[in-house]
Amino acid sequence: MKILVTGGAGYIGSHTCIELLASGHEVVIVDNLSNSSEESMSRVEKISGKKMAFIHADIRDEAALDAAFSQHKVDAVIHFAGLKAVGESTEFPLKYYDNNVSGSCVLMQVMDKHNVNTLVFSSSATVYGDPATVPITEDFPLTTTNPYGQSKLVVEQMCRETVIANDNLSVVLLRYFNPVGAHISGTIGEDPKGIPNNLMPFITQVAVGKREFLSVFGDDYDTVDGTGVRDYIHVVDLAKGHVQAIEKLHGQAGCHTFNLGTGQGYSVLEMVAAFSKACNKEVPYKIIERRAGDIGQCYADPAYAKSVLDWQAEKTLDDMVNDSWRWQSNNPDGYSS
Ligand code: NAD
Ligand code: UD1
Repeated sequence: MKILVTGGAGYIGSHTCIELLASGHEVVIVDNLSNSSEESMSRVEKISGKKMAFIHADIRDEAALDAAFSQHKVDAVIHFAGLKAVGESTEFPLKYYDNNVSGSCVLMQVMDKHNVNTLVFSSSATVYGDPATVPITEDFPLTTTNPYGQSKLVVEQMCRETVIANDNLSVVLLRYFNPVGAHISGTIGEDPKGIPNNLMPFITQVAVGKREFLSVFGDDYDTVDGTGVRDYIHVVDLAKGHVQAIEKLHGQAGCHTFNLGTGQGYSVLEMVAAFSKACNKEVPYKIIERRAGDIGQCYADPAYAKSVLDWQAEKTLDDMVNDSWRWQSNNPDGYSS
């Protein structure tokens, strides 16, 4: 298939392009490079030994998207493009609604105009809010506490409603748990700008000496050691989930929703211990107060993805920390190293 990938230069997008190319698909990337660089795409081409088309455009630019769809007769779209910083979204909510919601709306309108009827959308476990129980199944109530999460909920709803109105449309909503890790080559990975919000990039930056210590946000949750528990999933497993989704559900009209997680939760201190082993040194940390808006534990029931997509996460916690460390230690300043 020929697949248009929005946000394909970013963290999850770049890993997904490798898996798409490895499965014999052609890739057309649309990215405005607001949180990425062209370097990730040239490294993907080097790893794959294959070329991709790249269009430097914003998904809110209807004319540019229209031209992209006219030039490339694509079969399907995987839609990663979006902003993802929770804290920033509470400071600048309109920026998030504009980019994530308006951007998705323009994209779906242009798809419709060009009769492209398969869409895979990057949603997030954040749509479950603070779940009453774990593991989380796809039918859990949906709620959220911040504009970023709300933007995901609105786009999900927009997809459900558009599918009802268009009998030909197939939309796959993939709710990611916590993506970590990097390609085994150590040449592509997560390259956050500024101070990382998420746990894994923060730990890797402490280990490489860019930051002094990790602040652990609370040790009084009702979990194995009091620190927050999450379902960390290797980004390559996540990427493979997209290939399965597009291959299994292309042309299958309807709105299909899946958790992409491992089903296994790890605490912050378990992650610190695993990472210390990978980099062979202590990762200094201090326990501080809880982060506002955080939840105690969150992990997936991934059974539905297994049964329909024939997909399950295969990589271990050791793979996640070893691959993250290889990427960070080879590229201490990310793609600008
Ligand atoms: P990322 O920032 O690395 O990648 C997003 C890409 O989209 C970047 O290359 C950026 O330049 C591009 N982009 C942003 N706005 C754009 C626009 N208007 N037009 C064109 N390109 C645009 O982020 P990621 O971690 O790869 O996340 C990909 C998607 O997955 C996002 O939608 C994110 O919300 C979602 N998601 C991520 C996580 C996570 O922890 N990384 C978890 C759940 C869901
Ligand atoms: C965060 C977002 C969530 C988003 C997800 C993936 C918040 C409140 N939630 O979730 O909406 O979908 O990222 O992008 O931002 N931790 C520390 N110290 C740190 C960083 C994190 O102790 O410096 C802890 C957190 O308290 C949590 C765990 O590590 O227990 C994971 O945190 P993080 O990587 O930010 O992911 P989430 O909180 O799951």
